[in-house]
Amino acid sequence: MTPFAVLRAPSQVLFGTGMAEATGRVAATYGRRVLLITDPIIAGTPGFGTVETALRAAGLDVAVSTDAEVDVPSTSVDATVALGLETQPDVVVAVGGGSVIDLAKVTALLLAHGGKLSDYYTVNSVPGPILPLIALPTTAGTGSEATPVAVITDPDTQMKMGVASSHLIPRDAICDPMLTLGAPATVTAHSGIDALSHAIEGYMAAANEPTADLVLSRPQIGKNGLSDTLALSAAGHIAANLERVVQNGDDLEARSGMLYGSLLAGIAFGNSGVSTAHALQFAVGAATHTSHGLGTGLLLPYVMEFNRPARPDDLSALAIAMDSPGDVVEHVHALGQRIGLPASLAAIGIEHDALRGMAEASIGFKRLVDNNPRPLDVPALERILDAAWHGQPARLSEEAASVG
Ligand SMILES: [Fe+2]
Repeated sequence: MTPFAVLRAPSQVLFGTGMAEATGRVAATYGRRVLLITDPIIAGTPGFGTVETALRAAGLDVAVSTDAEVDVPSTSVDATVALGLETQPDVVVAVGGGSVIDLAKVTALLLAHGGKLSDYYTVNSVPGPILPLIALPTTAGTGSEATPVAVITDPDTQMKMGVASSHLIPRDAICDPMLTLGAPATVTAHSGIDALSHAIEGYMAAANEPTADLVLSRPQIGKNGLSDTLALSAAGHIAANLERVVQNGDDLEARSGMLYGSLLAGIAFGNSGVSTAHALQFAVGAATHTSHGLGTGLLLPYVMEFNRPARPDDLSALAIAMDSPGDVVEHVHALGQRIGLPASLAAIGIEHDALRGMAEASIGFKRLVDNNPRPLDVPALERILDAAWHGQPARLSEEAASVG
């Protein structure tokens, strides 16, 4: 295989217990005025207090926005941008989960370049650097502290839309496991299995012809050497710690392992991209109002099984990285069940005759569908959904065996 590798990542990653205390001095390198973005729940946590205290101790003027909400509705964006226009920050600091960090990305974008979010839905349409952004994740899941993507809710259609540009990658990722200690078990489970889906889908991403046009035309460019290395390491850390952290959320060592795995997965898929579990989750989540991680985690083993004929070596490498006791697809499926994922799509209330429509909706996420290692069409997506509806990955292995 021709060596090919791409790495676009934060300029600085600070990982470890106590690193949140560095936020003030890091922010001071960008200027005096800070827009600190979080949500109303995180705002009351000790971790947020650590960050705010560090910013004020560095002598900075801090304006706090607690307007973040799940899925980044336009009300959040409007309120936070308005505060930014009033206070003219030199740097934006985000403390929270994926929705908070994504809100901070689009706020830093709109404060730097103006306009409205729909101006930037086309990939790579952000014209230049956004305001400097320091991201501190409070969940081990989205990896948004390291990725070039923000997912928001379009104000007109109420559909989830992505803004994707290397300019959205936070300048600094400060990952302090202490900030993740308070996350409830369900959030920990769903965001943790989502991080595993980032590692695995990022590792199994389409292998594209490496050209200058490919690497410059979009931020996420498919499977490559550096993202592979990070994705395998991510999968190992997550597999070793996910069940443990769901059982005991106070286990700081397991929290640390999860946050590290989620960071590595974020850097990996930030460069390679994710794929089919994410495309299908948009339809599943829209129909059932279940969380992003519940959907990607539930769908992941079925997508892996579907892709087995195209990438048997990838599954072998993942099995080794994850110290899998047997077949890695079965291992991922069983892990999801042990951390409390629903047994099937039927178990979350989806009717079997809705699957065709969900497959048709998902094929529209071209960027994700095109990143699958095996070609996809609507019937193929429907077969994956059918196996997930029954809760039986083996339904796809029988299909793979018959197709050859
Ligand atoms: Fe995800």
